[in-house]
Amino acid sequence: MSPPPPVTPEEARVVLVIGVIGSGTMGHGIAQVLAQAGYEARLCDVDERLVTDAIGKIRVSLDKGVLRGKIDRGTRDAALSRIKATTSLIEAVRDADLVIEAVPEKLELKREIFATMDRAAPERAILATNTSSLSVAAIAKVARDPSRVLGMHFFNPVPVMKLLEIVRHETTSDAATATARALGVAIGKEPIVVRDVAGFASSRLGIAIGLEAMRMAESGVATIPDIDKAMKLGYGHPMGPLELSDLVGLDVRLAIADYLEKEIGPSFKPPELLKRMVQEGKLGKKVGEGFYKWKDGKIQG
Ligand code: CAA
Repeated sequence: MSPPPPVTPEEARVVLVIGVIGSGTMGHGIAQVLAQAGYEARLCDVDERLVTDAIGKIRVSLDKGVLRGKIDRGTRDAALSRIKATTSLIEAVRDADLVIEAVPEKLELKREIFATMDRAAPERAILATNTSSLSVAAIAKVARDPSRVLGMHFFNPVPVMKLLEIVRHETTSDAATATARALGVAIGKEPIVVRDVAGFASSRLGIAIGLEAMRMAESGVATIPDIDKAMKLGYGHPMGPLELSDLVGLDVRLAIADYLEKEIGPSFKPPELLKRMVQEGKLGKKVGEGFYKWKDGKIQG
C-alpha cells in the first residue's frame, strides 16, 4: 500500500458555514475552534440540555483562553456569537458547506446520521466524520455521493491539540481532501492525510499503550499513578496512559478496542477492568470518576 496521493491547495472549496453534529467532548471543542477561526458553526445535539451545557463548556474554555493570553475578549465574544445551537439535524446542515459528525463511536448511529445529512445538506457540502477508528468507507456507503465523505479526526482537548488526521477512503475526492486540509490549516491545526485503515495512524498506537497500561493495573504491576508516572517521566509523555484514558472517556476507548479487536486481532481485546468500569459508569473525567476521581477538571488527591 502506498501513502495517499497529495492534493494541492487550489483544489480546496470555499467553506463559511459548518455543521457540527454531536455536542459532547469532541463536538463542542470542534465548534469552538471553528468559531474562533471565523467560521459560522451550527452545533447540534438531541436535546436542549445537552446543547446548553455544550455552549457553557465552550464559554468556560474561551474564558480560559483569555486568562492564559491565547485569545482576546473580542475573539471570545465573536466566537460565541458565531455558534448557533440547535436540536434539529436538518437545521444544522441545510446551509452548510461542510458538516462534521462527532457522535458516539457506533457505526449504525453514524450511518443513520449520515443518511440524514446526505439528504438535508446542500449537494456541494463535504461530509466529515470525527470517528477515531471506524471505517470511513462503511459510513460513506449510505451517501448518494461517497466521494464527498471523509474523516476529520480531532484530538482532545481540541483547542490545544495540534493534529488533524484526515482520512481518505477509496473514493474520497481530491476536492474534499484539499478542503479539509485547508480548513485544518486555517484553524491552526497540522493536518496529516491517511488511508482508511482501522485505527488510522493515531488511534491504533494510542490505544495499544492505553490497553496495556490497563492490563498492568489489573494485574497489580504498579499503582495507577505509578504506571502513569512511568510514561510521563520515563518517556516524556505529557500525560500517563490511564489519565489519558480518563480524558478521552473509557466508553470511547472500549468502543475503539472492540472494533480494533474485530478488525486487527486479539492484541486489542479490551481488558476486563475496562469493561467493568464502563458498566459501572466510571467513564472518566466527563463523569467525575474513572481511573482517578476528578473535580473541576482536575484529578483529586
Ligand atoms: N484554550 C486555549 N489554550 C489552552 C486552553 C484553552 N481552553 N487550555 C489550555 N491551553 C493551552 C495552555 O495555555 C498551554 O499553552 P502553552 O503551552 O503555550 O503555555 C497549553 O494549552 C497546555 O495547557 P495547560 O498548561 O493547562 O495543561 P498541561 O500543560 O497540563 O497540558 C494537556 C494539558 C494539553 C491536556 C496535556 O496533558 C496533553 O497534551 N495531554 C495528552 C493529550 C492527548 O494525548 N490527547 C489525545 C487523546 S486521543 C484523542 O483525543 C483522539 C481519540 O480519538 C480519542
